[in-house]
Amino acid sequence: MNSPSELDCLQLGPLDHVAVAVRDIDTAAKRYSALGLRIGHREQVGDQGVEVAFLEADGTATLELVCPTSPDSPIVAFLDRRGESLHHICFRVEDIDAALAAARRAELRLIDDVPRAGAKGSRIAFIHPEVTGVLIELKQPA
Ligand code: CO
Repeated sequence: MNSPSELDCLQLGPLDHVAVAVRDIDTAAKRYSALGLRIGHREQVGDQGVEVAFLEADGTATLELVCPTSPDSPIVAFLDRRGESLHHICFRVEDIDAALAAARRAELRLIDDVPRAGAKGSRIAFIHPEVTGVLIELKQPA
């Protein structure tokens, strides 16, 4: 089906972050502080009905906490189904429009046909978890 050359066209950059769905960011932050992690950037992402907080270990590897802020956020259904657990992994891309076009050519099932606004002014899009078993975020940093 999908040849390696088609998938190479996604041109994934480095792993940007791993995200965990949580019911309450402050409670989660206390737990993660036991590991020596501290909350850095924190932001409401309105159109997704979530608040996110980024925990930084060494300035490179980042853990994102994703918390629903409205009852119709998709994170509410995820938490009910799976509990507080791994929600997605995120790879950086230089050109998210080109990455999505490549994903469509490779017939990967997408959640987002067009990029949406992410945290820190980024543009993001999600690839459906049926592709790898894990929800994948693509992120073009601001
Ligand atoms: Co994310």
